[in-house]
Amino acid sequence: FTFFSTTLYANSHSQQHFDTGGLSRESFPEGFLFGTAASAYQVEGMASEDGRGPSIWDAFVKTPGRIANNETGEVSIDQYHRYKEDVDLMQMLNFDAYRFSISWSRIFPKKGTYRYRYIHMLSIVNITCGMNAGITPHANLYHYDLPLALQEKYLGLLDRQVIQDFADYAEFCFKTFGDRVKTWMTFNEPRVVAALGFDNGINPPNRCSKQFGNCTDGNSATEPYIAAHHLILSHAEAVKRYREKYQAKQNGRIGIFLDFVWYESLTRSKADNYAAQRARDFHIGWSLHPLVYGKYPRTMQKIVRERLPKFTKSEVEKVRNSFDVLCVNHYTSYYIYEPHQPPSNVTGYQQDWNTGFAYERNGVPIGHRAHSEWLYEVPWGMYKAVTYVTKRYGSPNIILSENGMDDPGNLTFPESLYDINRVNFYRSYLKELKRAMDDGANVTCYFAWSILDNFEWLLGYTSRFGLVYVDHNDLKRYPKLSAYWFKQMLERKNS
Ligand code: NOJ
Repeated sequence: FTFFSTTLYANSHSQQHFDTGGLSRESFPEGFLFGTAASAYQVEGMASEDGRGPSIWDAFVKTPGRIANNETGEVSIDQYHRYKEDVDLMQMLNFDAYRFSISWSRIFPKKGTYRYRYIHMLSIVNITCGMNAGITPHANLYHYDLPLALQEKYLGLLDRQVIQDFADYAEFCFKTFGDRVKTWMTFNEPRVVAALGFDNGINPPNRCSKQFGNCTDGNSATEPYIAAHHLILSHAEAVKRYREKYQAKQNGRIGIFLDFVWYESLTRSKADNYAAQRARDFHIGWSLHPLVYGKYPRTMQKIVRERLPKFTKSEVEKVRNSFDVLCVNHYTSYYIYEPHQPPSNVTGYQQDWNTGFAYERNGVPIGHRAHSEWLYEVPWGMYKAVTYVTKRYGSPNIILSENGMDDPGNLTFPESLYDINRVNFYRSYLKELKRAMDDGANVTCYFAWSILDNFEWLLGYTSRFGLVYVDHNDLKRYPKLSAYWFKQMLERKNS
């Protein structure tokens, strides 16, 4: 069996001639960037070493039963040390960009003290080393990993103090890395942070609205809205500082990542159409409406009423237009219908929203399901999501900042490497992205999630999203078929 070496597999895939579906670099506008994405806690490892302070995720994963097989990101795939190899992989696969996140609690384990070693490591890994290899850094300041110290001190996102603390940390990063980082993002998926951390409480800080019994702190469905409000204000304050002090000098741009699920009305009925729009407002509009129009969507105001915080006049000014680039994380779509029972009298974000979800229409499944139970493969949803944002929100400059699918972690090694489903997934989604662009969407970059298999939050290592397989025993990396598909699709013709 050892004769069947991994190198052999890798090589046979690397020689393959792929059907790129007519896609190549030339299918996209000149200067369009293709990259891969990851985040600090999911790939770095060294979680409690080199002076790093814990984040709320470090604390959360310690309770048995929360993460599949009680895994953690303590070691993860050790990008902290293996960054060079990973950058080499990106280069070998013809990628142009890398989206990574900076660990707030590694830079500021305690308020006021910063750690030189990490700064040094970051500069090398993702910034200088990447740039030397032709990989343009896209730096995200927050990927779910609030410093635990701030959670313990003042309940983190529930207190307005977080706005200043986040902006101070952001400013430190602009000052330190802004000579090389030209694209900044403030937060990854504020909706996910608020809903999963403060409504159903399945993510840290594990607080929840009353209808969920599995949380440490029941609240009356005000908390998700407060947390989201503070996330938006923290974003806006960081953007204000960037624009006032750094942007012109550093010649960069700044944005935020939103998670975009596409909600399609199950039928043509007025009721279902209304329900689908409500879902889009509660999901996409919750963050995007304030960022574009300075207020929450009308549907939300009508339903959530006094539990929905308000922006003051000066906050409206600060929040409106507070992005140069809008980062869209898109994976999946669902059908939505109007449930035929009145909303329950229990309050909660999910209750407020109150729509029915369906995964098939007239007996036809919406799409093939990946390993994650929320992830259905629906390529046309890409077209609809990107077109919707373009039409409804003033044609923003869009980065398609995450897209991908996972396989179960327990496939055999050859099965994992021969990921034909992932090849089909990327080919069909990219075609739909191109169609949206041909119809006027202003998209400038695309990122696959993820370059390597990594720590998939609650699923631990039982889910594999990577283009490159990681053997979790020795942390060796092996490109999958999909990695070679990208390599071929991204070949530079003139070089
Ligand atoms: C969204 C998140 O940004 C990322 O951390 C996660 O791993 C992927 N989607 C896949 O679930």
